[in-house]
Amino acid sequence: MNILEKIPKPVALITVMENIMPCYNFIVLEEDPLLIGISVHTERFTHYLLNRSFDFGLNFVDISHVGAINYTGRTTGEHTDKFYGTKLTKKPAKLIRSYLIEESILSLECVKKDKISFSEHTLFIGQVVNFESKDGEFKIPLAYDYRRYTYQSDEVIEF
Ligand SMILES: Cc1cc2nc3c(=O)[nH]c(=O)nc-3n(C[C@H](O)[C@H](O)[C@H](O)COP(=O)(O)O)c2cc1C
Repeated sequence: MNILEKIPKPVALITVMENIMPCYNFIVLEEDPLLIGISVHTERFTHYLLNRSFDFGLNFVDISHVGAINYTGRTTGEHTDKFYGTKLTKKPAKLIRSYLIEESILSLECVKKDKISFSEHTLFIGQVVNFESKDGEFKIPLAYDYRRYTYQSDEVIEF
């Protein structure tokens, strides 16, 4: 049981090579250069791919793609072509070999720098070498757990 499951967290779609995996266990580790850590369970096909890839993408989609998040989080790339299954568009990146997701409002291209292994998870650390973002108003999906989603409020509190 994860005692933090009621704390809503933004969901990133990790792309490694041609596979997609939703991930809310990601963290900014350093701001300059920008280093991002993603914690991936050793049983995920994404874990297998990350050990064989030099890079990965971090993609953020709008709440309108929540069905794709759910789908990619309940299937494995070992047996499923998730780009085909979600109808998301595979987009070649500029500086990495892993694909990005065309529909993303923000995509980060990360080059793998390091990894730290724990008992069931590995923290893969990537340096952001390029990003692409779209302008506009977007609602980012926040997951409470694997099946319940909300999105950020429009309310802004200034101090
Ligand atoms: C919203 C959401 C967030 C998730 N976050 C993570 C995560 O941070 N780390 C992880 O290892 N799995 C996470 N998962 C589970 C994987 O996405 C899921 O097991 C997926 O099917 C693995 O796909 P793969 O076998 O193609 O890698 C998450 C699933 C969902 C739906």
